[in-house]
Amino acid sequence: MIEVKDLKKRFDEVEVLKGISSNFETGKVNLVIGQSGSGKTVFLKSLLNVYQPTSGEILFDGKDINKMSRDEKQQLRAEIGTVFQGSALFDSMTVEE
Ligand SMILES: Nc1ncnc2c1ncn2[C@@H]1O[C@H](COP(=O)(O)OP(=O)(O)OP(=O)(O)O)[C@@H](O)[C@H]1O
Ligand SMILES: [Mg+2]
Repeated sequence: MIEVKDLKKRFDEVEVLKGISSNFETGKVNLVIGQSGSGKTVFLKSLLNVYQPTSGEILFDGKDINKMSRDEKQQLRAEIGTVFQGSALFDSMTVEE
């Protein structure tokens, strides 16, 4: 189960996530909906620890991802499949690279 507790994420002056709390239960299919720019991608990237939250907690089976060791995070990420909305894996590289 993934538990999200009062998750906030701010970029400079813009507070994108303003205190999200939700539980995602094991075995259930969950859907996150909202208008464009409302913060869905920021939320999912926060769950993956691509972004560190400004405050709040994200617990995977009771363990806070922001307090996990590098090894623990690697183990967790090995269980997560991700398809990014736009090019994300090699967006810093040119085609030639
Ligand atoms: N790295 C960043 N730095 C600064 N602001 C960001 C960053 N990433 C996202 N934002 C801002 O956060 C807000 C939410 O963006 P996000 O991409 O999460 O929206 P979304 O709900 O996924 O939209 P869409 O439905 O178009 O995919 C936007 O105002 C965006 O400009
Ligand atoms: Mg998005």
